[in-house]
Amino acid sequence: MASRSKIIESIDALNLTLQRISRSGLRGFDCKPGSLAKLAEWGVAQQKKFETLTDIRSALGDCQRCRLAQRRQNIVFGSGSPTAKLIFVGEGPGFEEDQQAEPFVGPAGQLLTKIIGAINLTRKQVYISNIVKCRPPKNRNPRPDEIQTCFPFLERQIDAIQPMFICALGSVAAQTLLSSPEPISKLRGRFYDYRGIKLLPTYHPAYLLRNFEKKREVWKDMKMLMKEYPYES
Ligand code: URA
Repeated sequence: MASRSKIIESIDALNLTLQRISRSGLRGFDCKPGSLAKLAEWGVAQQKKFETLTDIRSALGDCQRCRLAQRRQNIVFGSGSPTAKLIFVGEGPGFEEDQQAEPFVGPAGQLLTKIIGAINLTRKQVYISNIVKCRPPKNRNPRPDEIQTCFPFLERQIDAIQPMFICALGSVAAQTLLSSPEPISKLRGRFYDYRGIKLLPTYHPAYLLRNFEKKREVWKDMKMLMKEYPYES
């Protein structure tokens, strides 16, 4: 397959050539402004299609797009396999994650690591990220405008990875990904379609640390996932 930069170069070259043909008055080619705009749009779409996690991290830069930038120590972009079949999505980094620039490394993260182990996978085989990439002060819920600003980067990460499954951890992740106001207790327990990807909402591990009895329901959800996950034998 041609490299991403070669394809983008070719689209640019084609666009320039069509513009030149248009200016020269040569007829028989479709160089109408609308067609050229469509070609440019197509180029941007191609660029997105071939975007890697590294490209997206570079686009995020030293993000100052919302107020969460003011108090964060680190951006917590995500970690794991760039070709993961399963992505876990949490709410936002906590204290430990902010310090270490790694998602789910605090107490809730240790429980998530156990859950991943219980479904016979490792953290390296899956991908882990969050709805917002900077720690909300005092671990409050991210606000709607913060989510709106940050969520497009997660969408791009999902597009780059193209997983088969997304596991949304807790209300904020499930409600954002599903554009639903329903609480996690109502949303969990079944698969949804998220742009052709099977999305399974379940309780957040931090909630499980305070409500042990809900572990049984999370295990039910994980068993549904295991039934469909294509383990290599
Ligand atoms: N809680 C989250 O939602 N995400 C993390 O990365 C850590 C704790």
